[in-house]
Amino acid sequence: MRTHYCGELRAEHVATEVVLCGWAHAWRDHGGILFLDVRDRSGLAQVVCDPEQREVFDVARRVRDEYVLRARGRVRSRPEGTENPSLPSGAVEVLVENLEILNEARTPAFQVSETRTRVHSEKRLRHRYLDLRRPELLANLELRARIIHRIRDFLERRRFLEVETPLLTRSTPEGARDFLVPSRLQPGSCYALPQSPQLFKQLLMMGGIDRYFQIAHCFRDEALRADRQPEFTQLDLEAAFLEEQTLQELMEELFTGLFQAELEVALPRPFPRLSYDKALDDFGTDRPDLRNPLRLTNLTELFRDSSFRVFAGAANLEDGRVAALRLPGGASLSRSEIDAYTEMVRELGAQGLAYIKVEDAEAGRAGLQSPILKFLEDATLRQMLAECGARRGDLLFFGAGDNALVNATLGPLRDRLAADRELLEEGWRPLWIVDFPLLERNLEEDRWEALHHPFTAPLETDPEAVRRAPGNCRSRAYDLVVNGVELGGGSVRIHQPGMQRVVLELLGMDSASAESRFGFLLRGLESGCPPHCGIAFGIDRLVMLLAGADSIREVIAFPKTQAGICPLTEAPAPVTPRQLREVGLRAHQPPAPTPHKDSAKGNPASKTA
Ligand code: AMO
Ligand code: AMP
Repeated sequence: MRTHYCGELRAEHVATEVVLCGWAHAWRDHGGILFLDVRDRSGLAQVVCDPEQREVFDVARRVRDEYVLRARGRVRSRPEGTENPSLPSGAVEVLVENLEILNEARTPAFQVSETRTRVHSEKRLRHRYLDLRRPELLANLELRARIIHRIRDFLERRRFLEVETPLLTRSTPEGARDFLVPSRLQPGSCYALPQSPQLFKQLLMMGGIDRYFQIAHCFRDEALRADRQPEFTQLDLEAAFLEEQTLQELMEELFTGLFQAELEVALPRPFPRLSYDKALDDFGTDRPDLRNPLRLTNLTELFRDSSFRVFAGAANLEDGRVAALRLPGGASLSRSEIDAYTEMVRELGAQGLAYIKVEDAEAGRAGLQSPILKFLEDATLRQMLAECGARRGDLLFFGAGDNALVNATLGPLRDRLAADRELLEEGWRPLWIVDFPLLERNLEEDRWEALHHPFTAPLETDPEAVRRAPGNCRSRAYDLVVNGVELGGGSVRIHQPGMQRVVLELLGMDSASAESRFGFLLRGLESGCPPHCGIAFGIDRLVMLLAGADSIREVIAFPKTQAGICPLTEAPAPVTPRQLREVGLRAHQPPAPTPHKDSAKGNPASKTA
């Protein structure tokens, strides 16, 4: 139908006869001559319809936004002074000899040329066929395709075999809620869509595949955020007879290659490694953004004997913490700014946000300004200033309370301060988080939960030692974090059935339930399982980062809203009673929707499932 793409016309095409196809992007009437911008995937071309050409002109006058056009004509240079240097094809235009309307279009719900921020995101998703015509979204999809292509190329050269694993399967234990698919042939039973291919990739290792990867669709029914969708894509991989160090090096090579190729950025290697404990201590989170120069200082010991009840009380809790966040130059913050930060941490659950303004660090008490000064002893003040490295003009914020709460409030405060005061440094700061605890205690329910998943190997190799002191065990897990985004996580896996049984038992499964849920895995482990390790990366998050986008929705062709709805197709949708009957279900009036309360790994019932 066409000879050229619109956006690819250049001066070298002058005098060539071309046929273009595309959408009417914009039109202008200049003294009777009609100028149409025709758009296709490659960009725009200006076509000129001269009133002398009566037939062409009559068609052109009927053209409206987003009409589908086919134009035949000759390329010519634009008259001097009318070139458009911001358009790649801006040196030329096409004088039209024949113009066809291939299809009309209803008035678009929004202008394709409108900047995306001006259009409500739900509207963009509802009319995604229009939204996808915008060059930014196209560029993101092109970037995504290139990244996947590069990943395949890299891994195939290193003998990784691409294998597909089932989507209709049993519940997989990544800690979110499952999406269930009722079975017609087995009424009352359900498949679960995979939260990840975790168990299948381990079974592939047992099957001798040696090195596996997959661009895998994963499904998790959990609270959604900018970097979380119910349906997302992982680069999932696994390798036998390989240890974590080698796997991490391989992944660093993959990522440095991607960043070099796409952004011409040389990531510094090796990526730094930070222990989970140190990450929480210094940043209040296990996915710190290292571009942010602010750090927390732990003051728990210092305040154990303080006469300031609020701090001493927290410092003496079994799992308590007192920490300071030093904001250089923060002494100039106004009362209302401090109030706003206090409000922010209160919303996150904190009791308050004590602060000290440092007007002169050398002058002792006289150089400080704070409502809590009167509660603090001279010696404590001195030592606190020293430990925080306080300088003239600083502001110290304090969090005191339960360790997890202090981290969950000072961590986000650190992000917010960096954003508000534009402290983020330029560039890319990847790091590995390592030395995770194997298990964490769910205090409310008085039981152990896996910090990653139940197949993660402990550092300790003796199952009895793990059983004796589960809380002391570290795991052989690792997460990759880039600029505050958790891109991926993986681990060395348990490859011995005895250890796997102990871990399942610690997670609350007696041997009968371990057998019924994971019997197939245990049989595999008993049948000659090689040592193996692996990792999975969120492709959507990776593309989001490289594209500089603020949400993974910008790099997914047909994403869902915060409420898990696809406004375009209106999925999920009710089904007929008959369809339900066929799969052995009965319709009942759904309860009024309640706001989702669950968090990232927030469904305790399936945490160890
Ligand atoms: P994990 O649960 O850490 O590990 O997931 C790996 C990576 O997948 C991405 N991710 C998501 N992206 C978008 N939306 C979501 N809802 C979502 N959930 C996770 C993140 C995350 O780092 N089987 C293990 C991996 C392994 O042990 O090999 C797993 O799935 O970028
Ligand atoms: P109060 O004794 O409750 O009036 O608190 C004195 C100061 O300490 C106030 O500035 C509070 O905002 C602050 N504060 C109270 N509880 C905490 C806490 N758990 N962590 C940090 N600061 C707190």
